[in-house]
Amino acid sequence: MKKYKIAPSLLSSDFANLGRDVEMCSELGADIIHVDVMDGHFVPNITIGPMIVKAIRPYTKLPIDCHLMIENPDRYIPDFADSGADMISVHTEAVPHLHRTLSFIKSFNKKAGIALNPITPLEYAFSAAEYSDFILLMSVNPGFGGQQFIESYLKRAENLREFLDKNGLNHVEIEVDGGVKNDNVEKIAKAGATMLVSGSGLFSGDFKTNINKMREILDRI
Ligand code: DX5
Ligand code: ZN
Repeated sequence: MKKYKIAPSLLSSDFANLGRDVEMCSELGADIIHVDVMDGHFVPNITIGPMIVKAIRPYTKLPIDCHLMIENPDRYIPDFADSGADMISVHTEAVPHLHRTLSFIKSFNKKAGIALNPITPLEYAFSAAEYSDFILLMSVNPGFGGQQFIESYLKRAENLREFLDKNGLNHVEIEVDGGVKNDNVEKIAKAGATMLVSGSGLFSGDFKTNINKMREILDRI
């Protein structure tokens, strides 16, 4: 089991060739396929839904990680579970009863994640952390790929890692999402993230060169 997992975000892939790009991610050593689900309400953009997740499922054996940036995620969790997702995260800002929603995700035997916007206090995740498998820290404002990593939020991963370790929750992973690239991935991993989501950082330019470099950096830590 690798300590650091690379999760290419399909948001920066070629939507006209999604199956091909998913296959490419698997063949070139990705660990997780990150799927950004946006509804035009919780975030300004609209992307993809469970039908697309179902369509790409046959193209990879890797876990598919559905990051739900949508209002009322409970309504769609069964559809994403049926579509073949392995991990489902919901934004705490969109969910009034987080414990209930995390339990709902787990009732489908899926890994349950809590996602936090960059300025949402970490405390929002603290009391629910023990019911989650991973916590996704946004390091850009959700909605679009290709944004700049917000440097000052690096400390959040450190503080969250410290909280988890102190409370016997070492198994809860931290996923950092937004602006992760080869020039900052080392410090993000050192701050405590073990799942690194990267869209434009991997898909801009040569994917193979980018992911090999990222693996090399993470292997050295
Ligand atoms: C943003 C998404 C991210 C994003 C990552 O709302 O959740 O997954 O696509 O893309 P980059 O790595 O380009 O910031
Ligand atoms: Zn995402």
